[in-house]
Amino acid sequence: MKISIARADAAGHQTPLLAVPVLDGDAQDAAFTSLDGALGGQLAALVQRGDARGAFGTTTLVFPASGAERVLLIGVGKGAELTTERLRRAAGSAAKQAATSRVGAVSFALPASAVPVADAARAVAEGLVLGAYDFRELKSADPAKPAPVALESATILVGEGTDEAAAAEGARVGEIIARAENLARDLGNLPGNVATPTYLAETAERIGRERGMKVTVLGPKELEAEGMNALLAVAQGSAQEPRLMILEHRGGAEGEKPLVLVGKGLTFDAGGISIKPAQGMEDMKFDMCGGAGTLAAMQAIAELDLPLNVVGIVPSSENLLGSKAMKPGDILRAHGGKTIEIVNTDAEGRLILVDAISYAKRYEPAAMLDAATLTGACVIALGHAATGVMGNDDALVREVIAAGESTGERCWQLPMFDDYREQIKSDYADLKNSGGRPAGTITAGWFLREFVGDWPWVHLDVAGTAYGDGKISYLSKGSTGVPTRIFVQWVMDRAAARGQTAGA
Ligand code: BES
Ligand code: MN
Ligand code: ZN
Repeated sequence: MKISIARADAAGHQTPLLAVPVLDGDAQDAAFTSLDGALGGQLAALVQRGDARGAFGTTTLVFPASGAERVLLIGVGKGAELTTERLRRAAGSAAKQAATSRVGAVSFALPASAVPVADAARAVAEGLVLGAYDFRELKSADPAKPAPVALESATILVGEGTDEAAAAEGARVGEIIARAENLARDLGNLPGNVATPTYLAETAERIGRERGMKVTVLGPKELEAEGMNALLAVAQGSAQEPRLMILEHRGGAEGEKPLVLVGKGLTFDAGGISIKPAQGMEDMKFDMCGGAGTLAAMQAIAELDLPLNVVGIVPSSENLLGSKAMKPGDILRAHGGKTIEIVNTDAEGRLILVDAISYAKRYEPAAMLDAATLTGACVIALGHAATGVMGNDDALVREVIAAGESTGERCWQLPMFDDYREQIKSDYADLKNSGGRPAGTITAGWFLREFVGDWPWVHLDVAGTAYGDGKISYLSKGSTGVPTRIFVQWVMDRAAARGQTAGA
């Protein structure tokens, strides 16, 4: 989608669809007031009558006699409470309306607010690109319906005195991040028979080719030579070969310690011999969303040319029940040498992750984040409203939570009391792969931590946030793209903290 910034008056602005925010309160924004003046008070009358409202999340479609063909009035709440997430959602509503109205262009009147204009324009760009996403590649065209119209161009209208260059830069960044996030959504939504470990590895290689990143892919032979027996054990129940992908963005100084992003790329989780119930098992195609977000974040990080070294690592396999499948009671030696007793083959995510985490230590990471649809317990604890986070470094946990707040991908910290660690002690091996039901998210976190050692690390359990019902305006049913934005934002924040800027 081509997104441009224009310092133009909403009144008389020609476009198939003009999105205009409505504030909850007396004073409306300049764009609304000006457009209302040109339309003889029609808009204010709608608000007066309650046909259009400023309440956050409400929309009213108006067909004015002149100017834009359609005006979408979008309630954004009180001016003082305006946030980037509210703007992102407003822009998502505009993109959805464009699809419904079958128009290929939209203009969005950016309201003046306390939100810095670069952040506001970025959020609107993200909302538009995310909202325009439509996963229909595996559906046959319905001959009875007209073909969908893609949203190809968007204009963000800014008011007098706005720093247009800052707005344009914000929109550029937002478009890059949201386009990457849509790639993550595609990978998540693709079914297990398409998005296999090999497919993810080919995607990683394509991203590397397009963005000039070094990409290394390890297959069964290399994994064996590396001693990545936990990943191999999970994969051995399936005909699909496992892969480990490593993407390296060299934006920082030579020799500078990298940030490492790790994502679970389990392309279908049947549970293995400890098989899952049939009900809802199809959702386990989303078990690679952490990996998808990692690949997508690496694409955006490379495209933004962020001035840090960043390594993305994705272990990928299926978890099935073939005759060679690992069994409860099996004991295996993971990368790095620790032995693990398998007590539940459905606790496979942590197995493929610890091999990747152990592998990552050779990079001497300045800090490491991992994201995984790791535990159903996290969905029970936090529902779909927040990603569960925990780590061995409180300052790093705070960085991740802050990145989540500013991108609308909310996180909530869970405690890593030593008590929980007891639950994963094994009688026969160094560790067992499940601590049972109590605090299942935290014991999974502790399991990972045993392999992290002292490297600064934070784990994100995205089981409740990586896919959903699509009730948020800029999303749709299925993959959400989480953790793409939070990963990219964290790297951007790290770069900014070093006093450097993107694209330098
Ligand atoms: N992929 C699942 C976790 C999951 C569940 C993600 C529901 C999204 C929605 C993971 O591999 C798993 O099966 N975890 C088990 C762990 C248990 C056996 C200790 C779980 O949560 O039940
Ligand atoms: Mn599982
Ligand atoms: Zn899983």
